[in-house]
Parts: sequence; structure tokens; C-alpha cells
Amino acid sequence: MKALLLAGGTGSRLRPFTHTGAKQLLPIANRPVLFYALDALAAAGVTETGIVVGAHEPEIRHAAGDGSAFGLRLTYLRQEHPLGLAHAVLVARDFLGDDDFLLYLGDNYLPDGVHGFLHRARTTPAAARLLLTRVADPTAFGVAQLDPANDERVIGLEEKPERPRSDLALVGVYAFTPAVHDAVRAITPSARGELELTHAVQWMIEQGLPVRAETTTAPWRDTGNVDDMLEANRQVLDTLVGTVEGKVDACSTVRGRVSIAEGAVVRGSRITGPVIIGAGAVVTGSHIGPYTAVAEGCRVEDSAIAHSVLLPGARVAGAARIEDSLIGRGAVVAPAPALSRAHRLVIGDHSKVHLTS
Ligand code: DAU
Repeated sequence: MKALLLAGGTGSRLRPFTHTGAKQLLPIANRPVLFYALDALAAAGVTETGIVVGAHEPEIRHAAGDGSAFGLRLTYLRQEHPLGLAHAVLVARDFLGDDDFLLYLGDNYLPDGVHGFLHRARTTPAAARLLLTRVADPTAFGVAQLDPANDERVIGLEEKPERPRSDLALVGVYAFTPAVHDAVRAITPSARGELELTHAVQWMIEQGLPVRAETTTAPWRDTGNVDDMLEANRQVLDTLVGTVEGKVDACSTVRGRVSIAEGAVVRGSRITGPVIIGAGAVVTGSHIGPYTAVAEGCRVEDSAIAHSVLLPGARVAGAARIEDSLIGRGAVVAPAPALSRAHRLVIGDHSKVHLTS
């Protein structure tokens, strides 16, 4: 079976990070979220994978290459404008040919992978197979309605409904037969101007095609917003195997599962795992952790940071306590000059700063 991995889109809920980079490359425990998807596909036995990319194609190509590092063969498929998930399937028409395929949303994180789902898709035929999970707020997702007499049969779907008919959200993994190609051609753009995959599958249901679902309780995150990114980071760090390869001086303490990459330096600091610190990062006089990822080349001085993610090259100095934060590439958080009583901010479009005083 082929796979189609969607890594285009605008990532508007992750601005300002997505002004300058692809949301699928934002790091979870210092690895792009997309890499976890590539790992999951390879572990499920897929090799031929089409990857739909938009304006951030160059960075995604640079990061994922030809896929051989993951055991995959990647074909890049350019979607000029993010016109919806069903539009991405239209773009991939030639690549997919008449094969069945697994569709995987590149910002979804499923630590338990897709092996079982793919196996059941192969062995139990259906025009479309969906993966569902119960969520507290279904209004943020595609929502499925199941046949009360058969909880594997999908009888209706809605995309981000105001008044959801169930709490069963669509996880970003689907399996399709070529019947989906007629469906994506048949639908028209939604109110938000996108060709919705949910509408395409609804069309399949209306044509009388078999659409099946399975409901999972396995962990899952759509990393499309900051809170979910931080939560995915916590989940991955919970499985971290600590290895200290960088330099930790005698005045520092390292507790719990901590990974410090070669070339990183920790001086006069307390590191409370789970924490990952990337190559070339320098941490001085600080308390890091728990649940914090410090990417390569970051500098942290005289600060305390917990439950946070620092992107490559970020610098934090003199911050008494930073929590639940995502700090961008090369961003600087530093104290104001001694006599200043004002906050001085130079922050990009759509950034958020929460001040405590
Ligand atoms: O995460 C699960 C949810 O994903 C489902 O419950 C929804 O039914 C489904 O529509 C989708 O909703 P999102 O609003 O989260 O989709 P998003 O715009 O974030 O796009 C998902 C992935 O697909 C992301 O990696 C970007 C990529 N994409 C998106 C669009 C709109 C493309 O490659 N091309 C596109 O045109």
C-alpha cells in the first residue's frame, strides 16, 4: 500500500512560527514532528510515500530528503495553494494511480503508530476507513456519527461542527481505495474555502459506499496549536532514555531522565528530567525542567525554564521562571537594563507575550 503524507497548509494557529517555517518541522523533543510520522509509516511496512508540500517545500526537502534515512521512498508533490485536504488528494492523483493508500496528516503525532490500522485496512475491505477517538471538544475536529446497530459503520461526518452529533473526532489517519478520487472531484469548497476530506467521505457514504471506522484510545495529538505541541513534547519526553554525552561541570546536578547531546555544555545548573538538550547548547546558572526541550545552539543563562520548548538558537537570560512556553528560532528573552521599569518588546507578527507584572 502507498502512503500520502500531507505537509502543506498554512499552520495559521501556530503563528508566528509558521511565518518562517513549516509547522510539520516544529520539534517535539528536538525532532521535527514530521519525522515521527515518517517513522510510523516505515514501521507499518510502507515504502512508497507521496509527500504533499506547499511554500515550505525547500525546508521539508532539506529535512526529510529522499526518505531513505527512514526506510521510505519519498515523492514530493507540490500543492501551490493550501486548498484543503481533499485538494491534496487531487494533487496526488497521478502518484496514487489505482492503488489503495494510507493518508496521514503530517502534523499528527501517534506514538503507537499505524501498524494495526493499516493491517485492518488491508484485511477488511472498505472504500474508506477512518480512525476515531473520543475528545472533550469535538468542535475543533472532523466528527463522525456511527450506526447505533454497528459501531464500525460510519453514517455521517461533519467538519468542525458548532453542534457536534458525537464526541468521536477524526484522527488524521485514513485508508482509501481509489473510490476516493471520484469523491474529491465531486465536492465543492466549504465555507472556509477548502475542499474538505470530511465532505469527500460524506459523499462516499451518500453513494452507498462502505465507510468503516475504528475507535482508538491510544494516545494521539494534532500538534496544530501551541498547547498540543507542548503536550506532545511532554509525551515524548516521558519515554526519553537519558544519555549524557555533553559536558556537565561539577557544580551542576542532573536528576531523572536527561539527554545532553555531544557538544552541549552545562555549567552551575540544575537539570531535572525529563529534559533534552541539543548539540552546542550552553546552559549556565539555570534550572531546566521538567519536561523541557532545549534545541541545538540555544543559550540559557541565570534562568528557570519548565514545561517548555526552545527552538534552535534561542537565547534566554535572567528569566526568573518560564513555563509552558514555545520560544522561536534565534529568539532572545533578556533582562531590561537595570534602571528601566518598562518591558521592552521587539516581537514578530502574531506573537504572544503573557506578562505577570
Ligand atoms: O488532526 C485531525 C483533524 O485534521 C481532523 O479531525 C479534521 O477532520 C481534518 O480536517 C484536519 O483538521 P485540521 O484543521 O487540523 O487540518 P490542518 O489544516 O491542520 O491540516 C492537516 C495537515 O494537512 C497539516 O499537516 C497541513 C496539511 N495540509 C492542509 C491543508 C489545508 C495540506 O498539506 N494541504 C492543505 O491544503
